[in-house]
Amino acid sequence: MICEAAALAEGGAGVRFDWAPAGGEGKGFVVRHDGAARAFVNRCPHLGVELDWQPGEFFEETGLYLICSTHGAIFDPSTGLCVAGPCRGARLEAIAVEERQGRILIHDDCPAPARGGGSGEQP
Ligand code: FES
Repeated sequence: MICEAAALAEGGAGVRFDWAPAGGEGKGFVVRHDGAARAFVNRCPHLGVELDWQPGEFFEETGLYLICSTHGAIFDPSTGLCVAGPCRGARLEAIAVEERQGRILIHDDCPAPARGGGSGEQP
């Protein structure tokens, strides 16, 4: 379990977690957008740094888009697609997340959630 589902407010602070399915020291994060939990690897496709400007702060001021604190890339929280900034067209790497019985669960053996609204999967 990553956290209680109630800990994720729509467009609010996210929750960071360790994410290193292939070893190493990776981080992931989960936020709530459009009522659903969305989880991604905490790694900007531009330079590979973590996104949050303060731990858990992933949304820009409107609460509608994720933002990279380093150079301001803007990401669609539904798909992880970068819609503005230096890595436009790239995607955050999605992590399969499940909300069940009031809890946010991550299973590293689950396939990533289906993507929609884009031009296809990024390599
Ligand atoms: S490192 Fe994220 S936009 Fe440059």
